Amino acid sequence: MSERVTVSYVGTIAGRTCSVVSSVDVGAVQNGFMEPTMREYTSSQFSRGGPDGSVPPYMDPCLLSSIVHDFNNLLTPVVIALEDLQRRRAGTSRELGKIDAAIYCAFRAKVVARQLLEFANARPPRPEPTDIRQLLEQFEVVLANVLAPDIRLTLHFAGNLPLAFIDRELVERALLNLVLNARDAMPAGGEISLATALEFPPTSKATRPQRMIRLSVCDSGVGMDDRTLKMAGQKNFSTKANGSGLGLAVVRRIVESLSGGLSIISALGHGTTIDLWLPAISADSSK
Ligand SMILES: Nc1ncnc2c1ncn2[C@@H]1O[C@H](COP(=O)(O)OP(=O)(O)OP(=O)(O)O)[C@@H](O)[C@H]1O
Ligand SMILES: [Mg+2]
Repeated sequence: MSERVTVSYVGTIAGRTCSVVSSVDVGAVQNGFMEPTMREYTSSQFSRGGPDGSVPPYMDPCLLSSIVHDFNNLLTPVVIALEDLQRRRAGTSRELGKIDAAIYCAFRAKVVARQLLEFANARPPRPEPTDIRQLLEQFEVVLANVLAPDIRLTLHFAGNLPLAFIDRELVERALLNLVLNARDAMPAGGEISLATALEFPPTSKATRPQRMIRLSVCDSGVGMDDRTLKMAGQKNFSTKANGSGLGLAVVRRIVESLSGGLSIISALGHGTTIDLWLPAISADSSK
């Protein structure tokens, strides 16, 4: 018979002190099978109202982070079990169709969990001089992995690009979101190109505008209508059946935290280009 032990954990999640009580099945762990840890959250982590006492109840970001993390962990064995049934073609074609749909929904739930984690785990950026070309060349394999074989990914680099002053991990996170959106916009396949340039941003309010690194993600997908273009990037706006509408909001927040910006050009039926404007080191201030 398996024995359960309760483990208290006080640590830091998302930069905040957090206490968590975990219940662990020792027998399962000893047998080499680590079951997803179930946690009970201490009531002190819930506060009534927002920081200003407003309703609805405010949820501590570290608590949200823990819940989403567990939610994600719990989904993993569900996906593995479903994939096993799918691989063994266990069931009638109707049942296999339901398994496919369940796998799709579980993956979407994982995407939503990831987006929520990105919100809960917002951390101050740690910018460093970064070679954007090197970043793209190394990250290409990750991006290519999320694309169907009928989508071509190409890279184009401007010569003599200065180093960018960015947080590499955050920019990679932004790029992944943009490439996932481009993929979703091309259900029948197409092309995604990533390109760099050194240019003045379109609407700089600075008195002596600086040239910035423009990192463009351009797709040949369905494009956006006027309403979508206006709303894109607002939290929770999505035209997708299972979209959380957090992807572009995350991207916007990332580039703004790096003192950069984002601009979108899109034409219905002709594709979309999203430019990330990133600070460059020693970029000149010429007119
Ligand atoms: N490359 C693109 N081509 C066409 N439409 C796009 C593109 N990128 C974003 N959009 C539109 O903007 C909306 C918001 O995008 P966003 O990434 O914020 O959310 P989402 O993709 O719907 O959901 P998720 O939170 O899973 O990313 C999308 O639902 C889509 O309508
Ligand atoms: Mg998205």
